[in-house]
Amino acid sequence: MLQTLSTLDDVQSMYDWFEQMRETQPVWRDEKSGCWHVFRYDDVRTVSTEYSTFSSERRRPGGFARTTEGSTNGQVRMGRSLLTMDPPEHRQYRNLVSYAFTPRAIDRLRGRVADITQHLLDEAGGSGKMDFATEIAYPLPTIVIAELLGVPTSDRPLFKRWADVLLSRQLSDAEFFRPQNEQRDHPEMQRISHTFEEMSDYFRQRLEERKCTPGEDMMSDLLKASIDGEHLSMEDTISFCIILLLAGHVTTTNLLSQAIRCFDKHPHALEQVRRQPEMMPQAIEEVLRYASPVWRLVRTTKEAATIAGVTIPKNEMVFAWLASANRDERQFPEPEHFDVTRTPNRHVAFGHGIHFCIGAPLSRMEAAVALPIILTRLAHLRVAYEESPELFEGRALFGFKRLPITFEKEG
Ligand code: HEM
Repeated sequence: MLQTLSTLDDVQSMYDWFEQMRETQPVWRDEKSGCWHVFRYDDVRTVSTEYSTFSSERRRPGGFARTTEGSTNGQVRMGRSLLTMDPPEHRQYRNLVSYAFTPRAIDRLRGRVADITQHLLDEAGGSGKMDFATEIAYPLPTIVIAELLGVPTSDRPLFKRWADVLLSRQLSDAEFFRPQNEQRDHPEMQRISHTFEEMSDYFRQRLEERKCTPGEDMMSDLLKASIDGEHLSMEDTISFCIILLLAGHVTTTNLLSQAIRCFDKHPHALEQVRRQPEMMPQAIEEVLRYASPVWRLVRTTKEAATIAGVTIPKNEMVFAWLASANRDERQFPEPEHFDVTRTPNRHVAFGHGIHFCIGAPLSRMEAAVALPIILTRLAHLRVAYEESPELFEGRALFGFKRLPITFEKEG
């Protein structure tokens, strides 16, 4: 049944539950929260893609990145974010940053990603064991996105504290999606609100500095950007930076750790990519499918919609389970099998449709550059299950807070 991910056993229980739901109740209403859940591959794609019916705008409380009138009512003042916009506005905002994720722009970062990986391994690799999550998987994408945005990479501990608060969620859906006035006094909601205020203040300051001394970075570009001849508001610019910072590091952190766990669990696959390094991009796609870093998307119905014969009324919140879609036997033969040679592999780990992850080329490149270096330098790499790896607790993401590994020391 629906539960928070705390342990790897919970993850397996959720995958078992998905399988059962795909078979018996592919569109299900959770009576406790009033939210709807969709599990099959085709249905998940429909919910992700059909924006005129399944809106990304948040109509119910619980969506963080929405416009509010200020923090006086206990809510954080937030600008708009790509993730919570519908067309036509969505396209205009997306165009403002898409230049940073073109193949050529991403290609230029390859050397830098390799250098950062080598440097992190130099720092961490002395003793034959390390926490892969905090020493490699977390800092690597964080440094990359911080450099792209133009914020100091030395502020990493701050970003980590924010990510830990925002991405670990103990509240159930029923508690989290309660009407605004009921939820705002909850200690966890207050912690989240406070974190958003801190992030907003941080970016406000950095952006003010950039106004005086522009640089070659995304913050400077966003300050110059305009839509229909008008500059973005400060709130929208801050919101953009927050979403890029958060989405840009936590998800790729999860991908890198999941890759290590998958290779550890499937030594034959590891052997295959060690022998044929050119297979790594394909192996990364299989990690994305098999151990999807983002578990679910959320939408709100703008009108009643019928999926798999079930009608979801207007103004309802719908969760599309990417993790379930990626294990749907209707789409993937032997979905429980981790197969680095799987073709085709049309997984939905990056979503689908107009909101398809803008950072997908960046995280694919980061993983494709970093993993071969890591596997070469850390021989006989093994996940140290006896040291109890820790997951990010929550429902939307699947990743490791701590992933202890052992390996053979170099030289
Ligand atoms: C393995 C890594 C990643 C995964 C699994 C992932 C997953 C996703 C998914 C599932 C969506 C769709 C959300 C929706 O439809 O509501 C999305 C959107 C987005 N992602 Fe990623 N992401 C990853 C890496 C990144 C990186 C590195 C960045 C930025 C540098 C990034 C920035 C974004 C942004 C800005 C959006 C919103 C796009 C839009 O609404 O048009 N992501 N991501």
